[in-house]
Amino acid sequence: MEITPERDRMSNLNARQRLRLISPSPDNPLATLADAVRAGLTARPKQLPCRFFYDAQGSALFEEICSVPEYYLPRAERQILESHAQEIVELFDGRFTLVELGCGNAVKTRLLIQAAWAKRDRLLYIPVDISPAMLEKTCLALLGDFPGLEILAVAGDYEAGLACLKIACEGPKLILWLGSNIGNFDRAEAEAFLARVRQSMTPADRFLVGIDLRKAPSILEAAYDDAAGVTARFNLNILGRINRELDGHFDLGAFQHRAVYNDEIGRIEMYLVSRSRQPVGIAKLGLEISFDAGETIHTENSYKYSPDEIAALAAASGFTVGPQWFDAQHLFCTTIFKPQ
Ligand code: AVI
Repeated sequence: MEITPERDRMSNLNARQRLRLISPSPDNPLATLADAVRAGLTARPKQLPCRFFYDAQGSALFEEICSVPEYYLPRAERQILESHAQEIVELFDGRFTLVELGCGNAVKTRLLIQAAWAKRDRLLYIPVDISPAMLEKTCLALLGDFPGLEILAVAGDYEAGLACLKIACEGPKLILWLGSNIGNFDRAEAEAFLARVRQSMTPADRFLVGIDLRKAPSILEAAYDDAAGVTARFNLNILGRINRELDGHFDLGAFQHRAVYNDEIGRIEMYLVSRSRQPVGIAKLGLEISFDAGETIHTENSYKYSPDEIAALAAASGFTVGPQWFDAQHLFCTTIFKPQ
């Protein structure tokens, strides 16, 4: 590949100099955690929003989940992107901007960056992630490996992500929402979110969404309750986070991880189950929460879709289904959503 002056100029800067990191999310995320914990643990049944899984420890545990043998999602999605990255970037003739909602460690995104990079002298990548620590680590690694790549990293939630879609940049946008992150929204929320993404898109933009498919409950339940107990630690970390940030007194050993597949609704439900009757204080909230033996905290839903449900979701949110790919075992589906 020919080195253009632009690439040359960019590669003379070190990774940190090339990283622009902004944090447009709420100034005080603690207040948000505090509000959610107060509301969720005084409700019946008790619940906590899964977005609070992802502090630095939770994000590291999620990375670990992605390598346990039972959690097939990242491998299936990787297989699809390995086979089709070239086709995906060729949806655009010239330059485009890559925006990613919830980038995590961006290992699969590398396949697309690599494919795009081979034929373009510039690529702007705008990753959005709720964990600033993970975001910085991911971006510095990418900048080290792709000299000349430009990154505008946004530490924030999906609201911040929607705002990023409005940033004026060169060429059309390829918006990525990988890893079946969509599954952590209920079906109505997913439709509403897609519709908002659609409103921020131009007709030339494309939205690539990775979605986990409905399948046998035994495969799903194993994926969310792995034998090594990594998912259990990930789930329990939300209590650890409350201990660390809100001066909570949860004994993590006094709660048990549970994952069940609700076949009718088509979702994995994750819970933390109190092993005994116990009070738990949360000092910074001035709260004492009572748990009965066997009482649950509902911490996450992970919705699964059939191909028909994906088509219906697209139509309901203002898209048509473009190219669509499956892994060899038909576990996972990657779909291009085109504005109608
Ligand atoms: C991030 N999200 C798509 C994961 C999922 O599969 O719903 C979170 C997760 N929870 C347990 N294991 C993985």
